[in-house]
Amino acid sequence: MNLKEVDVLFTAEEIREKVKELGNKISADYEGESLLVVGILKGAFVFMADLIREIDIPMEIDFMSVSSYGTSSETSGEVRIMKDLDFSIEGKNVLVIEDIVDTGLTLNYISKILKQRGCSSVKICCLLDKPSRRRSPVIPDYIGYTIPDNFVVGYGLDYSGRYRNYPAVCILKPSVYNND
Ligand code: PRP
Repeated sequence: MNLKEVDVLFTAEEIREKVKELGNKISADYEGESLLVVGILKGAFVFMADLIREIDIPMEIDFMSVSSYGTSSETSGEVRIMKDLDFSIEGKNVLVIEDIVDTGLTLNYISKILKQRGCSSVKICCLLDKPSRRRSPVIPDYIGYTIPDNFVVGYGLDYSGRYRNYPAVCILKPSVYNND
């Protein structure tokens, strides 16, 4: 990690403990039920890979990839599906995994689509929640950390395609994005 560019917010060890806690809670809540875990690419892939190994009940996994229309400042909230789920979700308990919930526009749209497809339930698990930025009334069911409005990278989160491989969640220093 280049510490001239980032400040560590949550270390790899802290995240590991948090992910264990979330996994235990999810295992208890879904005990005896079916579970389909859906990761939203790309940001969620690191968190999801760790989280599913802390969930101790049978599950299936799938992925979706979405992109918003327009720029983030003037987004309509409508989301284009770039990669859809491979299988029907009818009658299933779906747990959507996100790295971060920001405005909530992405998850609001995805949750609506999934519910229309006849699943039994849709819940949301995110590692990071930034409620101060919310524009859609999304309330995640499982939250790792509630964070202020800083630009965060690492553990799957990127800036301009970089930093996803950093093992910690970090705050990107303004000098990095102000120089671009
Ligand atoms: C991020 C994140 C969520 C979305 C949250 O994805 O992974 O999907 O933004 O933002 P919202 O709550 O304001 O809708 P991004 O579009 O950066 O794509 P990526 O996951 O491929 O990095």
